[in-house]
Amino acid sequence: MKFRTILAGVASATLLATVVFAHGKATGIVKERMDGMSVMGKTIKALAPMMRGEVAYDAQAVRDGGERIGIHAGEAMTRRFPAGSGGKPSEAKDAVWESWEEFAALAEQLHTYSEGLALAADNGLMMAGGATADSSAMMGSSSAMMGGSPAMMDSAMGLEELSEMPVDGVFAMVSQTCSTCHTKFRAEAK
Ligand code: HEC
Repeated sequence: MKFRTILAGVASATLLATVVFAHGKATGIVKERMDGMSVMGKTIKALAPMMRGEVAYDAQAVRDGGERIGIHAGEAMTRRFPAGSGGKPSEAKDAVWESWEEFAALAEQLHTYSEGLALAADNGLMMAGGATADSSAMMGSSSAMMGGSPAMMDSAMGLEELSEMPVDGVFAMVSQTCSTCHTKFRAEAK
């Protein structure tokens, strides 16, 4: 089993990607996935003030951000979670491997939404005025879904619909996907 884990690590992306820890710090595939997550975290943080209308809107930055998240989502994400790569210093819960299909579906959902974010970059913000309640009404059929339980609803949303949404709506779905996955699959979820 241990040997298999090591093989899975090597097969997944990095040379020397064995699951090795030194001084309690992550290395190999675990470090790689943490780094990928951190890149996404920084991207979300950088875009959030723009989505709130606090800084000037920059469509190119949104496109780049969507693409950057996409690079670390979907299969790129799931292959960084080979079986047996849990345990310290990883914050990944055992649930990742016990409920693998759900985990993988969320990773894939993030991929779709991040692509959608890039596609919606030119649509602009729906809440230039800052009224969340009103703006969700403007979103028509998707608004009911937005207000409901995002994790379940969104799986039905395809790229075409996403590409027609206001960009901050898609952004909300992206960050909601991060939280949904962290709540279930990451210890000390933030
Ligand atoms: C499919 C599930 C899933 C999705 C989607 C997901 N994450 Fe994570 N994330 C995790 C897990 C599991 C960990 C813990 C990884 C570990 O410690 O081995 C994690 C860890 C992190 C960390 C901590 C990294 C570190 O250095 O320890 C950050 C930051 C993060 N995620 C940000 C994000 C952001 C931002 C998004 C959305 C754009 C996102 N994540 C989407 C599952 C997910």
